[in-house]
Amino acid sequence: MIHKVTLIPGEGIGPEVAAATRRILEAAGVQIDWEEIAGRTGKPSDQGHVNQAAIESVRRNRVALKGPMATAIAGGAPSVNVALRKSLDLYANLRPVKNLPGVKSHFENVDLVLVRENTEDLYSGLEHEVVPGVVESLKIITEKASTRIARFGFEYARRHGRKKIHAIHKANIMKLSDGLFLRSVRTVAAQFPEIQYKEFIVDNACMQIVMDPLQFDVLLLPNLYGDVMSDLAAGLVGGLGVVPSANIGDDCAMFEAVHGTAPDIAGKGLANPTALVMSGLLMLDHLGEQSAAERIEAALKKVYRDGKHTTRDVGGTARTNEFADAVIAALKPV
Ligand code: NAI
Repeated sequence: MIHKVTLIPGEGIGPEVAAATRRILEAAGVQIDWEEIAGRTGKPSDQGHVNQAAIESVRRNRVALKGPMATAIAGGAPSVNVALRKSLDLYANLRPVKNLPGVKSHFENVDLVLVRENTEDLYSGLEHEVVPGVVESLKIITEKASTRIARFGFEYARRHGRKKIHAIHKANIMKLSDGLFLRSVRTVAAQFPEIQYKEFIVDNACMQIVMDPLQFDVLLLPNLYGDVMSDLAAGLVGGLGVVPSANIGDDCAMFEAVHGTAPDIAGKGLANPTALVMSGLLMLDHLGEQSAAERIEAALKKVYRDGKHTTRDVGGTARTNEFADAVIAALKPV
């Protein structure tokens, strides 16, 4: 079967890691008809807005692989990444966090999944200046979005044989907004009696996860806490270069790495494509190509175990292309 997939290479190291990922997926024999398109109008330096044609392409193909795109800090155009997720109503952000053999980290046997609400909370973009020197930023939490992310999380846990879900909140202080999130999750949790349900206040959760990550299985979080805790969790297993993510909605899905455009190493052929390759594996799973995904994962692990062709960020010396070549060489024939 040939899959039609939108490819948004992204900016900075995006095109380098996207090209390596594409080569690896194709070498595993997956037949993909890529529709390559820019995520932004104009050049990155122009800080253009989201490309409507890219949104249309993902709507049409229903699946996209995306490289990172830059966002100006404290001013400039709104985030193209957030605009894409919102326009396509990709309400669930899924971030599996697992150790890779040979990648130095503080813990072993970490295997957790963060399920982050992706459309509201403080990312509503509703900010204004009340009077000079005072700004207001609106945190939006709805029963509808909280319930659907909770349902997504519990259904994911059931499908993947996961045993435990922790909801993360700050409802002791934000009694209305996080309170509504928590009440919505509890209602859904009651419908999944086989999955153990627990709650943690976000500050305690941060402490708990760096003290003992193995106590966690699936974490269910509103947008902001999800954003912060998923990078924190990436740090438990070797950092942003080795963690994938998926943005999933009812109609389409977009797979991307957790890291950004890495301007410090862009264009130098030094980027580690592992995170995007692993996001590609989540995409293959979504497309029903489990056996190709398993072969690539095995090849990836072999390259990491051997340790001869890993990239600089994880202590090796290989360039992006050399790493991709090694993964391709390690692929077992079908
Ligand atoms: P970053 O993730 O781009 O870089 C942080 C550090 O990690 C840098 O030292 C970088 O060299 C390193 N790094 C990241 N990915 C790597 C990889 N694949 N291989 C080797 N090293 C890697 O984060 P930063 O600097 O905060 O953001 C840069 C830009 O990326 C910003 O404009 C930000 O808005 C954007 N961004 C975009 C995301 C997306 O498109 N989903 C996600 C995060 C940031």
